[in-house]
Amino acid sequence: MRPILAVLPIGLALACDPPQPATAALPVEATVVEAPAAPTAWPLNPPDPASMPEGPLGDSIRRGEVLVRHTARELPQHVGAAMNCTSCHLQAGTVAKAGPWVGIAGVFPEYRSRNDQVITLADRVNDCFQRSMNGSPLPVDSADMTAILAYMTWLSQGVPVGLSVEGRGFPHLDAPAPPDPAHGQALYAEKCVACHGAEGQGVTGPDGEPVFPPLWGDRSFNISAGMARQNTAAAFIRWNMPLGQGGSLSDQDAQDLAAFFTVQPRPDFARKGEDWSHGGKPADARY
Ligand code: HEC
Ligand code: HEC
Repeated sequence: MRPILAVLPIGLALACDPPQPATAALPVEATVVEAPAAPTAWPLNPPDPASMPEGPLGDSIRRGEVLVRHTARELPQHVGAAMNCTSCHLQAGTVAKAGPWVGIAGVFPEYRSRNDQVITLADRVNDCFQRSMNGSPLPVDSADMTAILAYMTWLSQGVPVGLSVEGRGFPHLDAPAPPDPAHGQALYAEKCVACHGAEGQGVTGPDGEPVFPPLWGDRSFNISAGMARQNTAAAFIRWNMPLGQGGSLSDQDAQDLAAFFTVQPRPDFARKGEDWSHGGKPADARY
């Protein structure tokens, strides 16, 4: 909504009106409506896919969408996990509380305490390649990196620069209760095992395409990924799992599930010693 600043154009009105007898003049008051406080979050409205441009820019945006949806298949040399970007950023980054990318082009560069640096959106994408995908970074000047950024920029159109959308990231649960991993294990057997497997290994299709992504083990995200943190995993589960029934679990159940599955064996991260080197380490960091 735009702030309304209405001031009655008194001088103009008088100049155009025919002369009036003084007795007929009514008191005229200038009205000033208070500007509402500037918004801090913007509604999440992904653009209509039909509005993707044609031509070379449209081709790059479309390539970017293919890459984030089929990352393991398209970029096997950069991806160690049986995972696509959309395994966590649901529906190609268009869903609130599921790591949406709508508006993301206007909030980077941003300071991140984990890196102790102001980082670009390309750096942030590469963080997920190295941690969440347990892989290696894309060259920042490659056509594929440009395509991913073109897709995210297209998703971000209409969101004012500097504003985050509502439901950015995986909004943390209000009052994290002390988690109970044994209860989490029981819930896992009841509600998650059918898709993610008894060993957390998930299901990978014959073409290497992840069908149900792994929650732990060699083909999952590594120990330095955001999803390896208790609060982030609990929030993701609370809002998004079981698939298609997001919001059905209680805060406590989501905490218990996260406490069970995040501490299962998963790949290490060689450069973890460099993280939060100047402070800002969150309480639920794994190392
Ligand atoms: C295992 C889950 C997972 C996978 C897979 C994953 N990410 Fe992420 N991503 C996260 C988490 C967790 C965050 C941090 C969100 C937060 O800060 O609350 C994140 C953050 C981001 C951000 C910044 C979002 C923001 O609001 O600041 C971008 C951009 C991003 N990821 C891109 C990617 C791309 C591109 C891929 C694929 C190459 C990918 N991610 C794969 C979990 C994942
Ligand atoms: C019906 C199948 C299904 C069930 C049941 C299910 N998931 Fe998932 N889960 C998925 C799919 C599919 C994805 C990837 C999202 C996508 O591709 O759209 C996913 C993604 C995830 C992820 C992020 C990616 C990763 O591998 O780490 C986590 C964490 C997760 N699920 C946890 C759970 C938990 C905990 C439960 C039980 C409460 C659960 N899921 C139940 C299908 C399921």
